[in-house]
Amino acid sequence: MRRLGDLPLKVRLTLLYVGLFSALLAVLATGFYLDTRHYLIAETTASFQAQVEASIRQWQSSASPLQPPAPPVPPGAPAQHSPFASGDVSTLVQTIAGRGASAAVVDASGNLLASAGKNIGLVQAAPACTSKAAAGSAACTLRLSGDVYLVIALPLGAGGKFVLAAQPLRPVERVLLRQQIALSVGLAVLLVLGTLLGLWLTSSALKPLDDMVETCNRIASGDLSQRVNLPQRNDEIGRLAAAFDHMADWVEATMEAQQRFIASAAHELRTPLAALQGSMDVLLRDALDDPPTAHRLTQSMYREVTRLFRLCDQLLGLSRAHTAEAIHKRSLALAPFFQEFMTQAGFLAQERHLALQKGSSLTIPADPDALKRILFNLVDNAVQHTVEGSEITVGWREAPGGVEIFVADDGEGIQPEDLPHIFEPFYRGDRSRSRRKGGTGLGLALVKAVVEAHGGKVSATSTPGGGSTFTIWLPEL
Ligand SMILES: Nc1ncnc2c1ncn2[C@@H]1O[C@H](COP(=O)(O)OP(=O)(O)OP(=O)(O)O)[C@@H](O)[C@H]1O
Ligand SMILES: [Mg+2]
Repeated sequence: MRRLGDLPLKVRLTLLYVGLFSALLAVLATGFYLDTRHYLIAETTASFQAQVEASIRQWQSSASPLQPPAPPVPPGAPAQHSPFASGDVSTLVQTIAGRGASAAVVDASGNLLASAGKNIGLVQAAPACTSKAAAGSAACTLRLSGDVYLVIALPLGAGGKFVLAAQPLRPVERVLLRQQIALSVGLAVLLVLGTLLGLWLTSSALKPLDDMVETCNRIASGDLSQRVNLPQRNDEIGRLAAAFDHMADWVEATMEAQQRFIASAAHELRTPLAALQGSMDVLLRDALDDPPTAHRLTQSMYREVTRLFRLCDQLLGLSRAHTAEAIHKRSLALAPFFQEFMTQAGFLAQERHLALQKGSSLTIPADPDALKRILFNLVDNAVQHTVEGSEITVGWREAPGGVEIFVADDGEGIQPEDLPHIFEPFYRGDRSRSRRKGGTGLGLALVKAVVEAHGGKVSATSTPGGGSTFTIWLPEL
């Protein structure tokens, strides 16, 4: 047995909506039916009661002492009976029956005094209605001779007599039945139409979700260029599709960057390895018998191995920086931190003038070791791209929401076409102008990764020939 939760969303939504819709319609239809039934019975009762009362009044007035006396009967003429002679209740029941009803008059003990019309066993039913009439309600509905009748019981004079009049309720019932059928058919048609319309509406509203599932599957099978590309719509599904495409853009860009990174890393590893292999080839073939050449080749091999170690260290550092656990933040007072950093960075400066530009006494949450590492990278870069005697300024200042740390130099600067790429792994500016050989192009990528792991941002401004400034913004919380 299939559970409701296993059904497709469009079927569940349609069932829910059709269920609510039907319950509402059923309540309305029942209310409407009961109201009409009540109205029709009340109307029929009122008019039937009025008819019976009119007959009684007519009968009573004909029996009234105010009525002019009957003309004297000529002697010998046959006796004339007025149809409304006083006390002659049979005339009353006949008058009532003459209007298509059944009628009877019973005395206080329920004995039949007169009856007319169709014999429907009115007298047997009399006690139920007369007791109601005694309590003030003239009308009741009873099942007599297999049919439902509207029975009116009215007291006749003070002697405890009752007039009973009954008429079948079949015409009213026929109207009600017709209405019941019309309501049921209408309800069924509405339900079928509502279900079909609901299925169509929910299917078309949820179609983009199916498209998204297909797009996801195609992306998962390797085609990263797939997008949902839903036409502009500002509802939840439109926003979900836009967010999905945005995420797919990000995944594609990240995967491409990763591919580029792997290709660059392989290329960077290949260069020293190829140099090593070349040196070893020469050594193995004939240079072992030539000590000066062997010494020169061994030294070159040592340099390449050192370069490989450095590359591996930087790759490891970069991969660690991308995992936030590698960053151990603590409350860091900037003034003493920079004091210590400047002492250590002095050894890197190589005839450059290293100056500290202090800001206010600030404390920020940061990993001091990681922060020191990236500042060393920035100062190292500044040293590589300036000439002896240049000025390198390190400092910090307050900034909206945090603090800005900067490293500025007055060196050769960065070309505008290089500036957008310098934070990419393995990117190096024009190598002919790079004075130090052996740079891997990972230094600034590491700076960016560490800063982002702190929840901060890094940027660079530069004027070719006029120096460069690297600015790190770190949040104060
Ligand atoms: N202060 C600077 N002045 C001028 N150019 C700079 C400066 N800092 C960085 N660059 C440019 O940015 C490029 C990338 O710097 P990055 O530190 O990432 O690599 P690298 O210094 O070449 O190698 P390493 O991995 O050894 O740091 C450099 O090759 C250089 O062209
Ligand atoms: Mg560098």
